[in-house]
Amino acid sequence: MCGIIGYLGERAAAPIIMESLKRLEYRGYDSAGVAIYNEDADKTSVVKSAAKVDTLVDRLTEDMPAGRLGIGHTRWATHGRPTVINAHPHTDCTNRIMVIHNGIIENFAELKRGLQSRGHVFVSETDTEVVPHLIEEHFKGDLVAAVRESLVQVRGAYAMAIFSQHDPDLLIGARLNAPLVVGIGEKEWFIASDITAIIPYTKKVLLLGEGEMVSISSLGPEVSTLDGSAVKPRIIEVKWDISQAQKGGYPHFMAKEINEGAQAVSNALRGRLTEEGVVAFEEFGLTDRQLLKVRDIKMVAAGTSFYAALLGKYIIEDLARIPVEVEPASEFRYRQPIIDRDTLVVGVSQSGETADTLAAIREARRREARVISITNVVGSSMALESDGVIYLHAGPEIGVASTKTFIAHVVCLYLLGIRLAAVRHRLPPERLRELAADLKRLPDAVHTVLERAETLQAMARKYARYQNFMYIGRGINYPVALEGALKLKEISYLHAEGYAAGELKHGPIALLDKSFPVFAIATAGATTEKIVSNIQEALARDAPVVALVSQGDPVLDEMTSDRIEVPAVAEFLSPIPNVVALQLFAYFVASERGCDVDQPRNLAKSVTVE
Ligand code: AGP
Repeated sequence: MCGIIGYLGERAAAPIIMESLKRLEYRGYDSAGVAIYNEDADKTSVVKSAAKVDTLVDRLTEDMPAGRLGIGHTRWATHGRPTVINAHPHTDCTNRIMVIHNGIIENFAELKRGLQSRGHVFVSETDTEVVPHLIEEHFKGDLVAAVRESLVQVRGAYAMAIFSQHDPDLLIGARLNAPLVVGIGEKEWFIASDITAIIPYTKKVLLLGEGEMVSISSLGPEVSTLDGSAVKPRIIEVKWDISQAQKGGYPHFMAKEINEGAQAVSNALRGRLTEEGVVAFEEFGLTDRQLLKVRDIKMVAAGTSFYAALLGKYIIEDLARIPVEVEPASEFRYRQPIIDRDTLVVGVSQSGETADTLAAIREARRREARVISITNVVGSSMALESDGVIYLHAGPEIGVASTKTFIAHVVCLYLLGIRLAAVRHRLPPERLRELAADLKRLPDAVHTVLERAETLQAMARKYARYQNFMYIGRGINYPVALEGALKLKEISYLHAEGYAAGELKHGPIALLDKSFPVFAIATAGATTEKIVSNIQEALARDAPVVALVSQGDPVLDEMTSDRIEVPAVAEFLSPIPNVVALQLFAYFVASERGCDVDQPRNLAKSVTVE
C-alpha cells in the first residue's frame, strides 16, 4: 500500500526523503512523488514519476531541490491509473498546499462535486485531490484548523502528511484506519507510514492513535484529536536497528528472511517457555481466570497469516480441546458472527495494520468478545486496540512475501495452545516437558532445512518451466500445503493450488497430467500411508511429483518421484521445517523465472484498504 514520508528539520529534506522512499518500496507501489519547500525562494518543487523510485532519484539527483521541509509518497493505485498526474503529492488551486495520502476517501465523489461547483479545478482522477482543495477552502490563516475542518468532512481511511506555503514551519500528519508514526530526532521530525522508513535517523517513535492529528513545528510535535482535544503523546523506543532492515549480503530480502527462520523461532520462544512447559507472555493482557472462561475461539486473519491461523486451529484444538474457528477477516466483519464475552477472538497479522483484520477485531470488541492480537509490529493498530498482544519479535520483514513471520506466528500459536491447555489442566507434566523440549529443538531443524538450499534450488530449476502446481498435505500439514501454494503464486506468478490430499480424488485430480506437477508434503506422521496413496494416484495420471519426506524415511523409495528430505521432527511440529522447504522452493522458482521476488506485481506488504 502507499508509503508516506515527511520531514521537517535542519538538514536538506530531499536526500532524506529519497532514502526513505527507497525504504518504503517494499510496501508495494506503482508511482512516486515528492514536494520540497524552499524557504529562500518561497517555492515548492514537485517531482513525480510513474515508475520506480530510482527514476525519481535520478531526476532529483540531477537537480536536487533545496529546502528543509518536504514530503514523499509511493502510490499503490486505487482511484485512477498509475500515471504521473495521479501520483502524489496533490495540491490545491493555488499550488501552495501539498498532501500525500494512504487510504481511500469514500465520499470523495460527493466532496469533489461540491468543490467543483464552487469553482475548484481538479487535475487528477484520485480521491486524494479533494483534501488540498478542502483545506484551501477552510484556510482562514490557521492551517491546523483548516486541516481539522477538512478531515471532519472526509469519510473512509487515511494516513496523510500535509504542508503548506501558508505556514512553512508546520508539517501536519493525521490518521484514521491507516498507519502513521512520528519519528523524533535531534531537532528534526519525521512522519512515516512505518518505522522502517525512518530507522536510520531515529529510534524514538511517537505512536499516533486512531483519529489523531500531529502538528510538528520547530518546537516539536503536538498531538490532538480531530475535534481539537490535546492528546498526551505515546513515545516508544524501537528495539531493532538498521542492519535488520538491510539485505545483509543476500540478493533479496526474502532470501535473508527465509534464512532468519531459525532465529525467528528462537526469538518467538525467548523468555516465554520453561523446561517444564510453562508459558508466560509479557503483554498478554488476559489472566488465567479470563482464559478459563474462554468457551470458543475465533481467529481472523488474511493471506499467509490466515494459513498460520488455520494451523492455530489444529494446534489449539489438539492441545487445549477448545473449539476454534478460523475465518478470513474480510468475511467475518460483514456477517453476523456468533460471539460473546466468552469467545476469545485472536487477530493474526504480521503488520497489525491489515484493514480487514483490524476491522474484524473491532467488530469482535464491539460484540464484547475478548481480543488478543498476534503481530510483529510493536505499537501497531491491532496491538493498541486489543485486550492483549503477543509480539512475534521477528524483526522487520521487508519482502512482500511473508516467511519468517509465518514461522513466528505458528510458534506463538504453539505457545498459546500450551498456555490455554495449562489453565485447563489438559496436559500432563511429562507431555508439557516433551513439548517444550521439542519446540526448543526446532531452530536446529530449520537450520538443517536451510542447509539443503542447494538441493531445493536444483529442484526448483527442474520445475520452474511448469505453469501449474498442486500442493497437497494432510492433517496439520494441510495448511502448510495452502501456504506453499500461496508462496509460489505470489512471487512466481505461476498457478498453484493447495489441497487437503484426501480431497484430490474428489475433483482436482481431473487437472493432473504430465504438465501439472504435484508437490506432496509426505513427512512422517499418522497419515503418511494415506498420502503415499495420493501420490500413487497422481503418478498414475503421469503427474510429476516432488515429495517432502522425513530424513531416512524409506516411504517413497519405490516411487518415481523427486524427494526432498527434511529432518524428522514430531509430526505436530513438522509444519515449521516443512514450510521453510516450501518457502525456499518458491523463492528459487521465482528467481529462476527472473521475477521481482521482493516486490511482486500488484501486491502490497500491508493491505490497509478494504
Ligand atoms: C504474504 O506472503 C502476503 N503478502 C499476504 O498474504 C499477507 O500475509 C496478508 O496481506 C496479511 O498481512 P498481515 O499479516 O500483515 O495482516
